Amino acid sequence: MMDKERFGIVGAGAMGSGIAQLAAMGGHDVVVVDLSSAALEAAAGKIGESLNVLESKGKLTPVDVAATNGRLHFADSLDALSGCQWVIEAVAEKYDVKNELLGKLNCILPADCMIATNTSSLSVNALATSSGRPHQFLGMHFFNPPVRMPLVELIPGLSTDPAVTNRAVELMEGWGKQTVRAQDTPGFIVNRIARPYYAEALRILEEGIADCATIDAAMTEVHGFKMGPFALMDFIGNDVNYAVTHSVWEGSYGEPRYRPSVTQRNLVMAKRLGKKSGAGFYDYSKSLPEPKRSDELLLLKIANRILLMLINEAVDAWYFEIAGRDDIDRAVTLGVNYPKGLLQWSLDFGISRCIEGMADLYDFYREERYRTSPGFPKWIAENSQ
Ligand SMILES: NC(=O)c1ccc[n+]([C@@H]2O[C@H](COP(=O)([O-])OP(=O)(O)OC[C@H]3O[C@@H](n4cnc5c(N)ncnc54)[C@H](O)[C@@H]3O)[C@@H](O)[C@H]2O)c1
Repeated sequence: MMDKERFGIVGAGAMGSGIAQLAAMGGHDVVVVDLSSAALEAAAGKIGESLNVLESKGKLTPVDVAATNGRLHFADSLDALSGCQWVIEAVAEKYDVKNELLGKLNCILPADCMIATNTSSLSVNALATSSGRPHQFLGMHFFNPPVRMPLVELIPGLSTDPAVTNRAVELMEGWGKQTVRAQDTPGFIVNRIARPYYAEALRILEEGIADCATIDAAMTEVHGFKMGPFALMDFIGNDVNYAVTHSVWEGSYGEPRYRPSVTQRNLVMAKRLGKKSGAGFYDYSKSLPEPKRSDELLLLKIANRILLMLINEAVDAWYFEIAGRDDIDRAVTLGVNYPKGLLQWSLDFGISRCIEGMADLYDFYREERYRTSPGFPKWIAENSQ
């Protein structure tokens, strides 16, 4: 049997520490590198705690925990990666930081070492070029927290050797993950298709149609989403959520569907970042406001409007071949816990009802944001065979 590849993880923050833990639990020797010794210490502590929790739940034996710990090594210099066969980078989401790192890695790593980026929103092809080894490079987008979230989006670049992508699929399956494959486009699958969940909720709020609590209740109570959009934005952090929206909007050359909201920008500017700062859309020092449930028709209209925009986005992503039908639905159920895949939802809701609903929105607003996806005729044909 082939020896398990030695992994390098660069960046020991929220994502890197979780990915390192996964790799070590998957039986790989792992070297975690960070510029900051405080980050390395924090990562070692966090991984240790997480392994203990898994042991206390009976998911790992004490022997597994000891073996996993024994496979983890921490270093503050990239030189420690010289014996790795795979490196996953999870450093700051900035081109200059990642490009500089990838250039250095190319000089240090063995010629046959594969490199993956955990970027959420940068171009995999751009980073592949900086790596100097685009055939051995791909995007591996984990979700937060990596140990718990079951999904990994794989994003091959234009030059990625298919054998590298296939090996990435095997590795992720070995780590207990499910993979979906996406094209290198802004937001890949999940961060693109989920945009209307936030954007349309913000728009409804800005129009004064309902308050945050009522919009949240519409989504959780009418359609069974685990968290309403405002509670979720506060949970993710408005700074993080706003930055992803901004990046997807900018990356798509200003597509109006992804245009960021001034309301959310103002919260970010005011440092009302959400739960982590004590206040965002909600003030967490007080009891949370009650939704206005008396107008059931209003709740239904809000919930269906946001759902329509999500379905429209999913059909669009399918039509433009960002990913396949099954992958799109698995991505949103596994990556953002939607109660159902959006393409399946379009069938249950009724495709013609989706088209009519989008046409009504467009008729009213006359904005490009509400245009019906050109994918619907093909989607109807696909589902009537
Ligand atoms: N946080 C999320 O929810 C999430 C989800 C999916 C993907 N991502 C992506 O994962 C990556 C990391 O995000 P994060 O949330 O873990 O960030 P983070 O800020 O928690 O951690 C980044 C770490 O990288 C280190 N670092 C920065 N430059 C470095 C360098 N040149 N060499 C070595 N270490 C360096 C920092 O010291 C820090 O410890 C980003 O690309 C982000 O977009 C984040």
